Amino acid sequence: MKLERGKLEMIKIAPSILSADFANISDDIKKAVNGGADYIHCDVMDGVFVPNITFGPKMIKDIKAMTDVPLDVHLMIVNPEKYVEEFCKSGADIVTVHYEATPHVHRALQMIKDNGKKCGIVLNPGTPVDCVMDMLGDVDMVLLMSVNPGYGGQKFIPFVLDKLRCLSKIKRDKGYSFEIEVDGGVYAHNAAEIKDAGAEVLVAGNAIYGSKDHTPEEMIELIRKA
Ligand code: DX5
Ligand code: ZN
Repeated sequence: MKLERGKLEMIKIAPSILSADFANISDDIKKAVNGGADYIHCDVMDGVFVPNITFGPKMIKDIKAMTDVPLDVHLMIVNPEKYVEEFCKSGADIVTVHYEATPHVHRALQMIKDNGKKCGIVLNPGTPVDCVMDMLGDVDMVLLMSVNPGYGGQKFIPFVLDKLRCLSKIKRDKGYSFEIEVDGGVYAHNAAEIKDAGAEVLVAGNAIYGSKDHTPEEMIELIRKA
């Protein structure tokens, strides 16, 4: 049987440009695209919701101009409902917002849908899946953080595997269609275990852009094959 990206046989890989060289971002994005990235994962940080600061909608617009690979925009900002429209208009294809970042998370999700984009909800490691149960039928993606957000290169938190199994079972039992994405501490050595627990999209930053022995293209392949 022919293997097709996005089908059961293949996990999706979303390289996180957080670990790319920001001074040569177009080169690093080309490497991800040439390596067969399914999404480009763009980490937006505001220095409030998370301790780090990255970039805003202008970056998304400029990346959009250089590739057709869908942009998976992970908003680590407080009150994302103030900005989701701008990110949608800038070229984001999927916009994910943290449950913990606003009392109006469902409004933020609705706004993303109203702007014609895919919406996703993100859970920090310490936030139980129970919190978002009512919204699972309204989202295109659920992103489980497997590190506390803010920085690349952190260690995968093992208890997230149980959460992943639990979410995957809920998805199966209820017949939901959202994709399950996992973000943080994903490497070739743990990719199989994370996929087996139910992940459908793996975000990887340091593994892809931080390897001394392999190019980003090779790393994408290694993680996918793992
Ligand atoms: C962390 C970010 C991640 C980060 C993952 O807050 O949301 O997307 O880039 O980095 P690695 O793969 O290096 O753990
Ligand atoms: Zn991320």
